[in-house]
Amino acid sequence: MAFPATRLRRTRQSDWVRRLTRETRPTVDDLVWSMIIHDGTEARIPITAMPGIDRLNIDEATKAAKRAQELGIPAIAIFPNIDPSKKDDEGSEALNPNGLIPEVIRAMKAAAPDVGIICDVALDPFTSHGHDGLIDGNGYVLNDETSKLLVAQAIVQAQAGADIVAPSDMMDGRVGAIRTGLEAAGHTNTLILSYAAKYVSAFYGPYREAVGSAALLKSDKKTYQMDFGNTQEAIREVAMDIEEGADMVMVKPGLPYLDIVQRVSRELHVPTLAFHVSGEYAAIQASAQRGWIEEERAIVEIIGAFKRAGASGVVTYNADKLAQLLS
Ligand code: PBG
Repeated sequence: MAFPATRLRRTRQSDWVRRLTRETRPTVDDLVWSMIIHDGTEARIPITAMPGIDRLNIDEATKAAKRAQELGIPAIAIFPNIDPSKKDDEGSEALNPNGLIPEVIRAMKAAAPDVGIICDVALDPFTSHGHDGLIDGNGYVLNDETSKLLVAQAIVQAQAGADIVAPSDMMDGRVGAIRTGLEAAGHTNTLILSYAAKYVSAFYGPYREAVGSAALLKSDKKTYQMDFGNTQEAIREVAMDIEEGADMVMVKPGLPYLDIVQRVSRELHVPTLAFHVSGEYAAIQASAQRGWIEEERAIVEIIGAFKRAGASGVVTYNADKLAQLLS
């Protein structure tokens, strides 16, 4: 029998050679810690569909920011759960300079100045109908009217000290409008991370419970989020947002869309983040709790997959756990 000319197993035979030949490796620098903040007095409120993750009040969120700084996590992405009495059809609370998000930003920046704060720009946690923008009589989300509010929301966040504003609403033209608004308001160094390729997805379910929009949302978001059959459209979305002034872009959800992460990072040469969303978190957690998969190995492997696909960073609810596992 002839011997194989090449034995790829030679470079797998021991740890030292596997380490030496490994192409990509995730580090703490790849992590963005996704966090849900609430405006109540209780320190932590569990999220049923996300075992292990709580909604944090401002104090707890501030402690978490300090912890992120100690762990070397570069940035935190914050999402609000506000009292339903503060929600209305226009999402007006999103523009309150003393609302939950501005308060949290100020507290986090004071406690952990070395951690970047990323704020979602979208109205869904603030509207009584759970949509990301203003709706007309037929429930259609209005593009240009919504964009105007998003500009105001982004300026409120920047004013409070947000380092990155991250429009996640999928309105057309909002990145350019936000850039112009920020420049005019003097926030020339505030970055824009655009959720450029964001798909309609079953994997957002637990998040909607977390921010309290699940029960309010009557229809779906198919008239603004992308159809999961499309790739070319994702490239156009990203290209447009770069043209309009996005500094970084996001692909969302994460794992089922690694092909999009790879194409965007290879073809458009822009820092590309991937959002490992709530439903992906819940799925891993549910099987880990049953002892069907090993959680720690699984979450490290997943971050490795995002890096392999070309992501410059990953937004994840597991960032604190991962920071320890990766160091
Ligand atoms: C919408 C928004 C969504 C998420 C964050 N902001 C999706 C949606 O409700 O359509 C999802 C995050 C997650 O699932 O972890 N502005």
